[in-house]
Amino acid sequence: MNLLIRVLIAVFITVCVSQSSSLAVKSKKSYIVYLGGINQELEASQIKDSHFEFLGSILGSKERVDEALIYSYNKQFNGFAALLDEEDAAKLAEHPDVVTVIQNKGRKLHTTHSWDFLKLEKNGVIGSSSLWTKAKFGENIIIANLDTGVWHESKSFNDYGYGPIPSKWKGGCENETLVPCNNKLIGAKYYNKGFQARYGKLNSSMNTAHDHEGHGSHTLSTAGGNFVPGVSINGLGTGTAKGGSPRARVAAYKVCWPPTLLGGQCDDADIVKAFESAIHDGADVISISLGGPPAEYMNDGLAIASFHAVKKGITVVFSAGNDGPTPGSVTNLAPWAITVGATTTDREFQSFVDLANELNLKGLSMSKPLPHSGFYPLINAANAKAENASMMNATLCAEGALDPKKVEGKILVCLRGGNVGRVEKGVVAASAGAAGMILCNAEADGEELIADPHVLPATHITYADGLRLFAYLNSTNEPLGYITQPETALNIKPAPFMAGFSSRGPNTITPEILKPDITAPGVNIIAAYSENEDPVLPYNILSGTSMSCPHVAGVVGLLKSIHPDWSPAAIKSAIMTTANIKDNNGSPMLDENKNEANPFSRGAGDIDPNRAMNPGLVYDSTVNDYLDFLCTRGYNKSIIQKFSDHPYQCPENNSILDFNYPSITVHKLNGTVTVTRRLTNVGPPGMYTVRVKSPAGISVDVKPNILVFEKKGEVQKFELTMKADGTSVIRDYVFGELIWFNGKHYHVKSPIVVSVA
Ligand SMILES: *[C@@H]1O[C@H](CO)[C@@H](O)[C@H](O)[C@H]1NC(C)=O
Ligand SMILES: *[C@@H]1O[C@H](CO)[C@@H](O)[C@H](O)[C@H]1NC(C)=O
Ligand SMILES: *[C@@H]1O[C@H](CO)[C@@H](O)[C@H](O)[C@H]1NC(C)=O
Ligand SMILES: *[C@@H]1O[C@H](CO)[C@@H](O)[C@H](O)[C@H]1NC(C)=O
Ligand SMILES: *[C@@H]1O[C@H](CO)[C@@H](O)[C@H](O)[C@H]1NC(C)=O
Ligand SMILES: *[C@@H]1O[C@H](CO)[C@@H](O)[C@H](O)[C@H]1NC(C)=O
Ligand SMILES: *[C@@H]1O[C@H](CO)[C@@H](O)[C@H](O)[C@H]1NC(C)=O
Ligand SMILES: *[C@@H]1O[C@H](CO)[C@@H](O)[C@H](O)[C@H]1NC(C)=O
Repeated sequence: MNLLIRVLIAVFITVCVSQSSSLAVKSKKSYIVYLGGINQELEASQIKDSHFEFLGSILGSKERVDEALIYSYNKQFNGFAALLDEEDAAKLAEHPDVVTVIQNKGRKLHTTHSWDFLKLEKNGVIGSSSLWTKAKFGENIIIANLDTGVWHESKSFNDYGYGPIPSKWKGGCENETLVPCNNKLIGAKYYNKGFQARYGKLNSSMNTAHDHEGHGSHTLSTAGGNFVPGVSINGLGTGTAKGGSPRARVAAYKVCWPPTLLGGQCDDADIVKAFESAIHDGADVISISLGGPPAEYMNDGLAIASFHAVKKGITVVFSAGNDGPTPGSVTNLAPWAITVGATTTDREFQSFVDLANELNLKGLSMSKPLPHSGFYPLINAANAKAENASMMNATLCAEGALDPKKVEGKILVCLRGGNVGRVEKGVVAASAGAAGMILCNAEADGEELIADPHVLPATHITYADGLRLFAYLNSTNEPLGYITQPETALNIKPAPFMAGFSSRGPNTITPEILKPDITAPGVNIIAAYSENEDPVLPYNILSGTSMSCPHVAGVVGLLKSIHPDWSPAAIKSAIMTTANIKDNNGSPMLDENKNEANPFSRGAGDIDPNRAMNPGLVYDSTVNDYLDFLCTRGYNKSIIQKFSDHPYQCPENNSILDFNYPSITVHKLNGTVTVTRRLTNVGPPGMYTVRVKSPAGISVDVKPNILVFEKKGEVQKFELTMKADGTSVIRDYVFGELIWFNGKHYHVKSPIVVSVA
């Protein structure tokens, strides 16, 4: 979860969640009971009745059902959420009609310039060949966002110049008094019964889709916010704010609530209900910037709900998580969805630390400048320790750990981390009377810097520069320094590079599917916010994969708009095979430590919207391919049938290696293996030739090595045989690349990842 968000909403915890209310239901837990797809011949109300009846047969009385039932899912898929004791849950799980019983999980939430960086515009000018122009800015596409709701008052959601709402839309605003709809913001609903069943009652003033936290408004406006000129933060980053599909219609489904002491913010039962609504209401794209630890697909409500969305042709875009750079930290692993990691752009908000010994240290900041020029006294927070506080807490600028008498009027030097948010440290420094703050990375943070809008003049420096600063503080009795006014710097090189926090592969559930799929800008992104918070910020700068996810959702909206016939898999393939793996130095994209980024961090690369418009070929998949995938997971066939509207059989010789994914991963290669793929032509007729960059120690043979497509829609298969040569020393994982190319225009690229047994 983004640290900034954590700080800003932490105050809600005690205010809104009553502490005592969950005692009565302590022995019970909330579960999703999933019964498969819906029987098309039944009305929603009949399915709902069947849930009452079914649950009644287990619990024994209608009263107990009324008490237990949280939601009935009866429009897009069949199931319900209920508070159950373990015995009843076990009984349900054994019932032949039940596909799976999932104990609900709590989940966590995980601009103006980024579109220029992605070449949709150049210095504010939008060219005729931009995907924006071609896709009419995503006009009439509907983007749903499952998050903390919407600050509808934001200019990003005004509907000036919008025509009537697309006729297919069945959604709306649940309470027009609290959050009114217009022709831009066409949906606002909230779901909190699951949250309350898990964490206790919310104040009834929370029964609204209104965004009290800012996260949801930020992500929604990044995906589909209208053009808003003249946006800046503390005078920085001035420009026209807009989303990826700036003319799209948007709908907010509020599923996340003030974070609890248990760490959760969003509950599966609510998220699954919101998925059902968004599918039913007629969304084209669902953007969802939250997640929890990865789980097997049948034990993951989000995987099941997103499957039903994709089955209806809706593209689902998830954030990869902010638990990088730990290997295996990536979450939201369903192969039918798009999983997005985060990268930087070429813009920085620079604010230097000038020291009296003439050292200048580069930091990042979006804070206000110091009130007067000239040096200020500096103090290491460790030397400003309050008598009753621990040294560690003082060093970290934790609340109550500083002695105001020592801090007053000085620039305070704080260490990042220790479960104290970056902005929170600024609040502590300011309330102790500091004139400014220098935030120093701990060793683990390395060079990752975040430009926060702190409540006092402040800047954020790297670990290496922090050491220089501490050495200076040690060297003199009267250390002096200055924090320069933040300034916008463009064309920063290298860019993009991986954000350190962006979660990494390998995929811990299905190692044969590479995740994340793609990266997009997610560091220092400016977008709409909630003005419920102090300081009041109509626009705010945030970092996280939460921010990169809606960038991809916005681009998906554009692609849907010009290719309404493309499946979610085709759209995903187009985005992946055209992605950028080089930075603006023309070198391979780097990670946060300046090493070459590999597919476990960057997936297929950084999104390139204009090229995604015209990929030439796509690796397409149908619902049956996803069912085949589930077969490879060893699920009971009669259970897989329940996902399908048609009779379905798991194929013979079904191998996950043949699942038509746009990236190629072989797990534990032992000797030789053959992988098959099929390509669909979505461009002009043409001849494609293969080029392979073999992973170290692996020979790769592609048959055939030329594919000729005579018309649009034509499908061609190929086989890729990989053999470990056994002679060279092989690391855990080795990486390569497969490219089908046709002249200059079409380069259909896939990462290859191999681990050797
Ligand atoms: C699948 O599970 C159902 C219910 O648990 C059972 O009746 C059926 O025999 C199983 N089928 C197979 C092929 O294992
Ligand atoms: C809308 O919210 C207001 C204020 O909480 C409430 O009084 C009203 O009953 C709500 N309307 C609907 C339709 O839920
Ligand atoms: C609920 O919220 C309202 C508005 O913020 C506040 O006035 C009221 O005191 C809260 N009630 C409880 C029980 O916390
Ligand atoms: C350190 O600060 C935390 C809050 O940030 C507090 O819970 C803890 O008790 C403090 N520890 C000491 C030793 O003061
Ligand atoms: C130390 O004492 C001050 C004043 O009595 C109090 O505000 C602060 O919370 C205390 N800090 C800790 C860490 O106990
Ligand atoms: C500064 O001095 C402290 C205490 O004497 C010491 O622990 C620390 O390593 C010194 N830091 C640097 C960077 O010299
Ligand atoms: C499956 O594999 C077996 C053994 O390799 C082969 O005999 C059979 O024809 C294959 N079946 C299909 C449907 O490809
Ligand atoms: C590799 O395959 C051979 C032959 O099939 C088998 O004997 C061996 O155990 C396998 N090695 C590993 C590490 O799986």
